[in-house]
Amino acid sequence: MSDYLDLRQRAEETWNAWQRPGKTRIIYSSDTTSVGRGLADTVAALEQGIAARGLDVALQRVGSRGLHYMEPVVEVADAAGGHVLYGNVTANRVPALLSAVERGELARDLAVAVVSGPDVAGLPRLEDLPFWQGQVRRLMQFCGLIDPEVIDHYLAQAGYSGLARALQMTPEEVIKEMLDSGIWGRGGAAFPAGRKWDFLRTARGEPKYLICNADEGDPGAWVNRMLLECDPHVIIEGMLIAARATGATYGYIYVRDEYGLAVERMNMALAQARERGLLGENILGLGMTYDMEVFRGAGAYVCGDETGLLSSIDDDRGMPRIKPPFPAQAGVHNKPTNVNNVETYANAPLLFRNSVAWYREMGTERNSGTKMFSISGDIVRVGVVEVPFGVPMSTVLLGMGGGVPGGRALKAIQPGGPLSGVIPGSLVDLPLEPEAFRPHAVMMGGGGLTVASEDRCVLDLVKYFLIFCEDESCGRCTTCHGGSQRMVEIFERITSGQGKPSDIDTLQLLAQTLQWSNCAHGQLTPTAPLSAIRNFREELDAHIREKRCPARACPGLINYEVAAQGSGLAEAAAICPTGAVVQEGARYRIDDARCIRCDACREVAAPGVIQVTDRFLPVEVVAAPAR
Ligand SMILES: Cc1cc2nc3c(=O)[nH]c(=O)nc-3n(C[C@H](O)[C@H](O)[C@H](O)COP(=O)(O)O)c2cc1C
Repeated sequence: MSDYLDLRQRAEETWNAWQRPGKTRIIYSSDTTSVGRGLADTVAALEQGIAARGLDVALQRVGSRGLHYMEPVVEVADAAGGHVLYGNVTANRVPALLSAVERGELARDLAVAVVSGPDVAGLPRLEDLPFWQGQVRRLMQFCGLIDPEVIDHYLAQAGYSGLARALQMTPEEVIKEMLDSGIWGRGGAAFPAGRKWDFLRTARGEPKYLICNADEGDPGAWVNRMLLECDPHVIIEGMLIAARATGATYGYIYVRDEYGLAVERMNMALAQARERGLLGENILGLGMTYDMEVFRGAGAYVCGDETGLLSSIDDDRGMPRIKPPFPAQAGVHNKPTNVNNVETYANAPLLFRNSVAWYREMGTERNSGTKMFSISGDIVRVGVVEVPFGVPMSTVLLGMGGGVPGGRALKAIQPGGPLSGVIPGSLVDLPLEPEAFRPHAVMMGGGGLTVASEDRCVLDLVKYFLIFCEDESCGRCTTCHGGSQRMVEIFERITSGQGKPSDIDTLQLLAQTLQWSNCAHGQLTPTAPLSAIRNFREELDAHIREKRCPARACPGLINYEVAAQGSGLAEAAAICPTGAVVQEGARYRIDDARCIRCDACREVAAPGVIQVTDRFLPVEVVAAPAR
């Protein structure tokens, strides 16, 4: 234990010096979203501006708080204790921010909230922002607070103290505490983590392996990325606790290939943990040996399936394996293995740092603790939130997320990615617990919640998911790759006005056939089309029987017309890729036979000038004119 206390003391010195440098701190939030929204330019502008003005300030990096709708986020903490958060600080806004900092004033136009310190007139406190209200940040408690590239920042928050405690318990005691906490796997299947750990503990064969599943392939989900990029040590600590419980001596963090920054930060965190004696031999002087590495994913969705992932690490083709044997019997390198999701492992340090009673204070009797959700689609505030299980989904989507922009109706919600389905907006009050979603033919899933407004066609959305599933099928089972192809064909016909009433029966038959696929990818591919049949029957019938898309979104069921000779038509004619916006004298019209319904003309023309109608006209394909 003394090794841990020494580490902690050193870390606190570093943390205190960083937090209280005796001058103003300008702190920028850094994750893939802020990078995507121009962080590099913002940081360059901050560096140049600070140098040009000769400001004596500390420029510091932290992870993101999940306020993705307003990235790049920059916070200013003055030496007197005032701490204000600014949003949308793009490079062109940096001069205004720095001018205010120079004068010791608030940059009012960019200021969003007071993080800590004295109140500022007219500015809410961070915890009073609608995005924050109702959140309980446990897993995300250090996201946006610490620099994820500095292990001392994590250690100074009592990081690795859960491990220090677990190392003084027997493996059986660690597993009992996991079981008592009720923590179940966050990757989608909701299997109790303690039971899985016990399978590995009692498995025969050495060495034993741990795998952290950070493949996160669901479109609309990025909760795992949040932790990988903003608090990597909580994952490492969780895996170390699992190693204590199971006897595993080596681990892999399987990160999807597209997560470049996550890979970088995890590698950095592993190197720092190794350097501090938290990985390797005789960890914390308490006898355990364990090490691990980052493994970059193969860029395939099915490699997120735990056995597809094993194949991928084993350098086999990325195909799910047939079970049994289960990973605990024959996993990676044919040795006993435990696979858990990022968020599952990240819960363990919270539990062991606190207690079972503390852990169970949040959530419901059957689903204890908190869950992270990434919210996106037609929603005012896109971001990542954390709430106790059982909170109504409306608290997250309407309260934190702000609902659909522009007062449009919330038509549908897509929880749980492409292997889940779509539910009507009227179910927005469902409690966020897996059991609540099942009766509606969908899954709560790993954390993605995508919102569709009344302007979206649910069948178009389902077609997108089916195309995704077809593309990502590994090809082993004819039921899966052939079945998903047939489903895509049916949806392509329905959304282009060629649907038949018998299509619904055919889809249901195909759904049964797909159950004969070997893995959950094929078995769950029908979830989205079945949810459309069950939850959006009227919309389906309108497409099939009336050849009409009520949302006016399906390209095969709509026409574009010039409704008024207003402004923007010349731009529309210039942008049209097929020359369908035709000028005749001073007037414009749309040549229906050439129109490919890409919507580009409507986007550039003044509102109401180009209209979409649901009049069904069969489209004859003609070659684009020479331009
Ligand atoms: C096609 C497919 C993709 C999956 N993708 C992921 C993923 O990206 N992340 C994940 O944790 N689990 C994913 N799973 C579930 C895993 O197979 C496995 O159940 C999970 O990693 C176990 O961890 P948990 O018990 O902590 O939830 C996927 C399953 C399937 C069938």
